[in-house]
Amino acid sequence: MSEILRGKDIAPARGKLGVLMPGIGAVSSTLLTGLFSHRRGLARPIGSLTQMGKIRLGKRTEKRFVDVKDFLPLAAPADLVFGGWDCFPDTAYEAARKAKVLKPEHIEAVRDELEAVRPMPAVFDRNYVRNLDGQHVKKAATKRALAEMLMKDIEDFRTAHKTDRLLLCWTASTEAYREAQACHASVKAFEAGLEKNSPAISPSQIYAYAALKMKIPYINGAPHITTDCPAFLELAAENKVPICGKDFKTGQTLMKTILAPGFAARGLGISGWFSTNILGNRDGEVLDDPESFRSKEISKLGVLDTIIRPDLYPELYGDLYHKIRINYYPPRGDNKESWDNIDIFGWMDYPMQIKVNFLCRDSILAAPVVLDLILFSDLAARAGMYGIQEWLSFYFKSPMAREGLYPENDLFVQRDKLMNTLRYLMREELIHHTGLDYYYDLEKNGQK
Ligand SMILES: NC(=O)c1ccc[n+]([C@@H]2O[C@H](COP(=O)([O-])OP(=O)(O)OC[C@H]3O[C@@H](n4cnc5c(N)ncnc54)[C@H](O)[C@@H]3O)[C@@H](O)[C@H]2O)c1
Repeated sequence: MSEILRGKDIAPARGKLGVLMPGIGAVSSTLLTGLFSHRRGLARPIGSLTQMGKIRLGKRTEKRFVDVKDFLPLAAPADLVFGGWDCFPDTAYEAARKAKVLKPEHIEAVRDELEAVRPMPAVFDRNYVRNLDGQHVKKAATKRALAEMLMKDIEDFRTAHKTDRLLLCWTASTEAYREAQACHASVKAFEAGLEKNSPAISPSQIYAYAALKMKIPYINGAPHITTDCPAFLELAAENKVPICGKDFKTGQTLMKTILAPGFAARGLGISGWFSTNILGNRDGEVLDDPESFRSKEISKLGVLDTIIRPDLYPELYGDLYHKIRINYYPPRGDNKESWDNIDIFGWMDYPMQIKVNFLCRDSILAAPVVLDLILFSDLAARAGMYGIQEWLSFYFKSPMAREGLYPENDLFVQRDKLMNTLRYLMREELIHHTGLDYYYDLEKNGQK
């Protein structure tokens, strides 16, 4: 086992950080438009902990609150350079116009920078995303050759932009649901699968393989498994690369993981939770295919159990009926609307109902998540952290967790984990929120 580098030992964020995104669509073009605008002083990066958040250090009596960006040696937004791949040739400018997340005037303000992000031809397979038919794709005899083409793209990007460090963040469509197969059992089996064109190897896994082979961190913003299988855990450990995923936590699931911890904390029962959505963007179109929807459904369904723990509280949550629907409805575009009906019960089993109607903007919620994940993953790499970055669970609907451990889905536990990891990295005292030492001499009692 190697050590985590802390404080001044963390490698500095020198030079440029290259960010390569498979998928130049609604989320990535919204991130880029916002970030480019922010760099010109035209927009605020609201929702980003790294840009606008503060962290408390020490005791409450010390009143020390510092900006996260000043506390940690993070890469500055000005040092990020972007590239990517897509199965359509649209630049980030065209993608932003088509996605219609943002007003034209906001896109036009940074048009030149958006136009400079031209996707490279993608590794794409319709068996994994049935509802798209892009032609801007790579062709090769084997999946291994495709991986090598991606590695060359990455190397060319590094040279062209003179980057110091790189990372890959999947912002492409949700792939069809597939469980890990024999070819995912080890690196050796996976490499044999690449050679033999195993149909069980998805495009996202070819990107992730290229990244990890080159010791580049990989972030999975979609719900499909990609690196969540033994072969990739082995490769990440072998090459000492950070990985994280799955599925950016936004919209309805964000609300769910805000509300459910509250009900569970107060010991209220839940008999039913019905969630339905309408959305009309390309993501919605892809999810209209039952196989892609299955990936999303599994990612969304899993969040409640680890928060409310029906295994520990069968009387309160043992009979919970949890249902999720996603409906593709083009007129809405990216402006998703979700409805939740929650049937809860309290004292003497008296039933109550809660209705939540969230008119959200998916990509507006996703963009700051992507930015924070980029900056924190880069920090993890410079701190020598590798494998699954559980402290980044805060940002995911279906967080990856070490084998044998359940993932943490409670947003507030996730936030504590994240904040304490940051304190640990900078050699600050971890905060446990007891406040007992104000009243009692814990040292004298031998409790410190
Ligand atoms: N918007 C959100 O709040 C949110 C939240 C959680 C997860 N996500 C996930 O993020 C991803 C992106 O969402 P979006 O709204 O930007 O979708 P989008 O459809 O607007 O963009 C995805 C892009 O990926 C491209 N693509 C598909 N397969 C590809 C491949 N193999 N290689 C390269 N490009 C490929 C598509 O052509 C498209 O341009 C989706 O997987 C979505 O499920 C989004």
